[in-house]
Amino acid sequence: MSLALALTLSLIPFASAATFDVSVGAGGELAYNPQFVHAAVGDVINFVFHPKNHTVTQSSFDTPCVPLHGGQNSGFMPVAAETTALPNFQFSVTSPDPTWFYCQQTNHCGRGMVFAVNPPAEPNPHSFKAFQDRAIANNGTAAPSASSAASSTATDTYITPPTPEWQTATATITMPSSTWTTIYTSYAGAAAPTPALQPSDHKIIVGADGQLTYSPANISASVGDTVTFEFRSKNHTVTQSSFLNPCLSQAETSLGTQIGFDSGFQPVSAGATSFPTFQIKINDTVPIWGYCRQGDHCVKGMVFSINAVESGPNNSAAFQKLAQRNGTSSPSSAGSGTPTSSSGSSSPSNAAVSISPIRGIGSVLALTATVFMML
Ligand SMILES: *[C@@H]1O[C@H](CO)[C@@H](O)[C@H](O)[C@H]1NC(C)=O
Ligand SMILES: *[C@@H]1O[C@H](CO)[C@@H](O)[C@H](O)[C@H]1NC(C)=O
Ligand SMILES: *[C@@H]1O[C@H](CO)[C@@H](O)[C@H](O)[C@H]1NC(C)=O
Ligand SMILES: *[C@@H]1O[C@H](CO)[C@@H](O)[C@H](O)[C@H]1NC(C)=O
Ligand SMILES: *[C@@H]1O[C@H](CO)[C@@H](O)[C@H](O)[C@H]1NC(C)=O
Ligand SMILES: *[C@@H]1O[C@H](CO)[C@@H](O)[C@H](O)[C@H]1NC(C)=O
Ligand SMILES: *[C@@H]1O[C@H](CO)[C@@H](O)[C@H](O)[C@H]1NC(C)=O
Repeated sequence: MSLALALTLSLIPFASAATFDVSVGAGGELAYNPQFVHAAVGDVINFVFHPKNHTVTQSSFDTPCVPLHGGQNSGFMPVAAETTALPNFQFSVTSPDPTWFYCQQTNHCGRGMVFAVNPPAEPNPHSFKAFQDRAIANNGTAAPSASSAASSTATDTYITPPTPEWQTATATITMPSSTWTTIYTSYAGAAAPTPALQPSDHKIIVGADGQLTYSPANISASVGDTVTFEFRSKNHTVTQSSFLNPCLSQAETSLGTQIGFDSGFQPVSAGATSFPTFQIKINDTVPIWGYCRQGDHCVKGMVFSINAVESGPNNSAAFQKLAQRNGTSSPSSAGSGTPTSSSGSSSPSNAAVSISPIRGIGSVLALTATVFMML
């Protein structure tokens, strides 16, 4: 280093501090220009806000799009399109270390609208480029929201992403029926599997009065009890299924060896006086779910349950509702009377709303989301 340069550098702090002008969103671009500066302690960064509604918000390198606790923040600076007196915000450099900034307006950070003071030069894992990449990686695909639409104008130069993220969340509601196993060893909320002192037989009438019903359609039975199904009309079955796939036999859905019980078709002629029966033995207190395999009987609600936990989301009414949709849960109608918000709208502004039922409904929908996680 030449003596002259060394002298010059050492004199700078004593000379007047430099001011760097940085334009924010000039030309409608989601960018600071320049994107970074190298400044000395005492220098001032003068951010000049162009039309639209940006911020200059300090963050950390690690979380580019999250405000730094105790950091600087211009707040939102809405600027009308025809404004000539542009507002500004000044940041005084107090440290030679890198300082990181971003725009807090929805989606801007994820589109790379970030800024830095004194970032290490490339190649470096903490370079400006690395910071910007991190912003896009962390926040680039997420966070659709109402305000993104509001803040976007015809002057925007970026392309709106075609797929709002919440559609992915919706997709998780559809369960792959073929991968669910119905084998249990225990069941939360169920009674302890203590055998009844006096095993009893429970009778369920199948197709009473020509109806597509089991009556009763939900019973409690103790370990050691038996349940006898009596077929009174038409041509029904008693087929074990699972809560999540009410209208598919366990043979079709189970990953394991358990295929469940199935009475097979039991045709009953119109004037019959004796009726075929089918009996099962209750081996534990695990809920048992079943349906009639004939035609569309199941989707017409011809299902039954034994030892369903009526106080929980997997109750007999929820099971029947699921059957009536043939196992395809939809956010608005799942559950056991839990009020649910309608959530099918494709408007990005409803994104947050459409996700919330997954957590909030506490019923069939919540359960299907859980199952997806488990698969
Ligand atoms: C970026 O993502 C983080 C983590 O999901 C979130 O907390 C933050 O609010 C997001 N920032 C912006 C500007 O969207
Ligand atoms: C600026 O953006 C913020 C955040 O999106 C919003 O709350 C505010 O209303 C906007 N201001 C104007 C004038 O559009
Ligand atoms: C409901 O049933 C599913 C599958 O049969 C199970 O994974 C889930 O834990 C059950 N939920 C409750 C609250 O018991
Ligand atoms: C009972 O239903 C099954 C399935 O639909 C059919 O294959 C069978 O022929 C029916 N039996 C009588 C006696 O109608
Ligand atoms: C109970 O166990 C017996 C003997 O293993 C079996 O045949 C029967 O299907 C079981 N009952 C149920 C409801 O799974
Ligand atoms: C119910 O859904 C299953 C699997 O998606 C399908 O195979 C079956 O035909 C459906 N049954 C009715 C009655 O729609
Ligand atoms: C369950 O049983 C009760 C009492 O027998 C009955 O009122 C109710 O309708 C049944 N629920 C379903 C879904 O069948």
